[in-house]
Amino acid sequence: PELSQDELKRIAAYRAVDLVESGMVIGLGTGSTAAHALDRLGDLIRRGILRDIVGIPTSKKTEVHARAVGIPLSDLDSHPVVDLSIDGADEVDRHLNLVKGRGGSLLREKMIEGASKRFVVIVDETKMVNLLGGSGLAVPVEVIPFCWSFTMGKLRRLFDGVSGFDLRLRTTSGDEMTPSVTDNLNYVIDLFFEKGITGNLDEISDAILKIVGVVEHGMFLGMTTSVIVARKDGSVTVIN
Ligand code: A5P
Repeated sequence: PELSQDELKRIAAYRAVDLVESGMVIGLGTGSTAAHALDRLGDLIRRGILRDIVGIPTSKKTEVHARAVGIPLSDLDSHPVVDLSIDGADEVDRHLNLVKGRGGSLLREKMIEGASKRFVVIVDETKMVNLLGGSGLAVPVEVIPFCWSFTMGKLRRLFDGVSGFDLRLRTTSGDEMTPSVTDNLNYVIDLFFEKGITGNLDEISDAILKIVGVVEHGMFLGMTTSVIVARKDGSVTVIN
């Protein structure tokens, strides 16, 4: 029988936690896939198989979860160099560029994963895409709340003429009037590219980041060390 998507997420996550060694500083990802890695890491710590682990959580949600399963925690101020980060992604292209941030944690994720010697991404095979943005999911942009509509106008103009492009302020589920607020008390503007992003990703990244009012975006370019992909038949592929 085919394994469930959650089972595949668990398989990828456990495989990544196999890379953890005692004494490491570990970047702890956010989302349903990374949650399996937290459970596994906590389990190995409780059983004394891993010792002296320090976890750096990429969100408040992960902080709460990690604490509940007994992972000792710190932050980048105290541990500016992270040995290994493990996190999920919304999309992965064949160059191992990512879209992240459906859960809204892109800024802290990018800070911590960018400070990591190794960044291992864990996904089930549904996350693999030809072009970033191509699965119809949002490419999120974190913006400061001040005059967010002005900032959204700048983003709209940046992609003027791109067919199938759309964007909107992310709202809390079930309430279209209330903006979704990140851990950093910012808003998120979701960009949609019907046909995926076809241009030069580095140039697009730079252009987005140049807009005053933008804090960060969810494209993670050239950051990934390896991707662990769990496939429907239960097999695992590691792409470096
Ligand atoms: C959180 O902001 C995201 O970057 C997640 O890592 C990403 O959305 C993947 O989440 P799932 O593992 O739940 O699909």
